[in-house]
Parts: sequence; structure tokens; C-alpha cells
Amino acid sequence: MDLHDRMRGVAALAALTRIAVAVYDQKTDLLRTFIHSSEGDAALTRYVARLSDVPSLAEIAQTGHPRVVDDISCYNGAREHSRRVIEGGFRSSYTLPLLNHGRLSGFLFFNSPEPGFFSPCILHQLWPYAQVAAYIATMELDRIHVIQAAVHTVIRISRERDDETGAHLDRMSRYARMIGECLAESHTLSDEFIEYLFQFAPLHDIGKVAVPDRILLKPGRLDAEETAEMQKHVDKGRSIIDMMSDSFGLDQVPHIEILRNVVSYHHESWDGSGYPHGLKGGEIPIEARITAVADVFDALTSTRPYKHAWSNQQACDFLQEMSGKKFYPPAVDALLNNPSMVEAIQKQFVETQFD
Ligand code: C2E
Ligand code: SIN
Ligand code: SIN
Ligand code: FE
Ligand code: FE
Repeated sequence: MDLHDRMRGVAALAALTRIAVAVYDQKTDLLRTFIHSSEGDAALTRYVARLSDVPSLAEIAQTGHPRVVDDISCYNGAREHSRRVIEGGFRSSYTLPLLNHGRLSGFLFFNSPEPGFFSPCILHQLWPYAQVAAYIATMELDRIHVIQAAVHTVIRISRERDDETGAHLDRMSRYARMIGECLAESHTLSDEFIEYLFQFAPLHDIGKVAVPDRILLKPGRLDAEETAEMQKHVDKGRSIIDMMSDSFGLDQVPHIEILRNVVSYHHESWDGSGYPHGLKGGEIPIEARITAVADVFDALTSTRPYKHAWSNQQACDFLQEMSGKKFYPPAVDALLNNPSMVEAIQKQFVETQFD
């Protein structure tokens, strides 16, 4: 965070060693670390909590007021959360809720290793920076959500007709996030990267909005001509993203490359047999390799106009068989090694008729 460097330059704020943003997911009540400025933040990386399990934060969210904790080690309000913060070497905190049109979108944390650091005098100096940081963080989260909402609206309107539901997007984006979390250590994927992957994965098939009904909804196998037409959804999707880039200033959105890659390369295969470019191995961006596994697993286990739902076992066998051919083996392993998380996601996001 550039802002953090500026603030460190202010002598009185030198002991302010961490600024972090946690994102709140309304649907699941989960809070996750997103952006943080401190180095070696291991104790707090990939930290996930249910908001209702952290009463101190829930209270901040409810009142809308920032809160100072002078010594976290004397403070029992958040248990696991507090323990993590202390493990990270921090003793005091200043926490602001990020509210977006009255709805909680996350929290902004300032931490210091010094107990009692956030005195009234420091808070006075910190105030303008805190406002700017809260504004930037809200804008950043908001921008992604606005784009996502716009895209989802387009998808919904254009496919009143289609069987693919919101539940598919909810599930596949969570499989993608789960795979990302498994690969984070070995592939040095940051929390920020994984959060964007989660936000953008549901847009992988945006190009299908431009595929004619007679093909998209065909209740049987596609012939060669129809398949070729169908496969154009990838390039069409890329054009839509490019168009949105121009008209919404999407190129300002951090990590927009993740979105572009997910849309452009989600049908490429590890062995080079995919489309539309026939990219191979490491030429395929990791976010697309992950999305491919998440998307196909959910497509297989769902009913489509052209197929019945497969059982998890059948879908897992297929992934296993195609590992190293169609799919990136570590991404397949991540999914196969976590059957209970897969089932939990399936249980949470069940197909409903009006989804
Ligand atoms: P989709 O339904 O979201 O499926 C995404 C991907 O999941 C497919 O990419 C494929 O790799 C995998 N998949 C889905 N169902 C099956 C299956 O029954 N067997 C196997 N082996 N793999 C499956 P793909 O093939 O590139 O298809 C892209 C999109 O084209 C599909 O998205 C679907 O919308 C459409 N599509 C593909 N085949 C047919 C078909 O035979 N009939 C119709 N009506 N649409 C099809
Ligand atoms: C807490 O709310 O328990 C501490 C917040 C933090 O600084 O991470
Ligand atoms: C779309 O097709 O545009 C989104 C739904 C899906 O993942 O297929
Ligand atoms: Fe696709
Ligand atoms: Fe899909």
C-alpha cells in the first residue's frame, strides 16, 4: 500500500506497522483477509472467520463506529481472531467498519506492536489517513461488486432461458477459491489473488450471452458446426471484457488481468488439446487452470439441457483420468483431496427452481 509508506513517513505514526482490509461475504457470513501491508504476515494470512463468531467485530459493524483496543492481550472479545493478531506481533488495534450504502463490505484494521498506541492524539493525526484508506478500500471492493452485479444482471436477463443457474456460479467460484487456497503455498498465490479469482471466476462464460438459443439450449449433442459456434463463446467473452474495459474504465480495476485470463483461457488444456489457442502447460495462466477444473467438475455434477448430472464419484474419476491431459494435476489433486469441502459447498448451494 502506497498510502502506508506515506504514513510511515509521519514520525508519530512510525509504530503503525500494519494496515489490513478484510472482506465480508454476505452470503456466507465469512470474513477474509484481503489486502495487507505488513511483511511476513503469516499469522494472519488466509485467515477466515464467521462474523457471528467474532462478536467484537459484529458490534462494530452494527454500530458503524470505529473501535480502539489498547491491549489486545487483555481483550477477550475475539478469541481466535485476537490470538492471531497477537501472534502476528501486534498489541493494539484501531478498527473501522467499511460500509457501502449502509451494508457491511468489510473492515479496515490498523495495528501497532505498542500497547496503547492509538491514543487520542495519534487518532487525531491518523484520522485523515484512515478516511482516505477506508475510501480507497471501499471503492476497490465496490468497483468489483458493481462490475459483477452489472455482469450478473446481463447474464440473468439474457438467460431467463438457460438452465445454468446462480447456484452453478456460487459453487464453481467456491471450488476455484478452495483450489486456490490449496495451491497458495506451493504457487505463492496471495490472498488478494485468491479473492479476485473468487470474484471473477463466475464470469468465465460471459461470452455465452452471445450464443444463439438453438445451440445453447439444444437438448442433445451438438454437431460439428454447432460445436464450432459454441466454442466462439470464449472469444466473444474476451470481446465483452475488452468492451467493458473501455466503457467502465475496467482497466483501472486491480488484477483485471485475472478476469481476462479466466475468460480467455478456461477451455485451454494442460496438454495443449484445448481451445481456442491450444496453449500448453505453463503457457496457461494459473487462474485459468484452476477455473477449468472448478467449472468442469460443476458442469459434470449438474444437469444440463444436454446431459444428466453425474455423481461426485463419476466426476472425480473423470478429473483423475484427465489429470495431466485436460487438467493441471495439482488443481485436480486439490479438489479430489477435499471431498468434505466439496460436499459442504454442494449442500450450501443447492439448485432451486427460481435461482
Ligand atoms: P458447460 O455445460 O458449462 O460445460 C463446461 C465444460 O464441462 C465442457 O466444455 C466440458 O469440458 C465439460 N463437460 C460438461 N458436460 C460434459 C459431459 O457430459 N462429458 C464430458 N466429458 N465433459 C463435459 P466444452 O465441451 O468446451 O463445452 C462448452 C459449453 O458448450 C458447455 O458448457 C455447454 O454450454 C456447451 N455444450 C457442450 N457440449 C454440448 C452438447 O452436446 N449439447 C449442448 N446443448 N451444449 C453443449
Ligand atoms: C479485534 O477486533 O479483535 C482485533 C482487530 C484487529 O486489529 O485485527
Ligand atoms: C454464463 O454462461 O454466462 C454464466 C453461467 C455459466 O457459468 O455457464
Ligand atoms: Fe466456457
Ligand atoms: Fe460454467
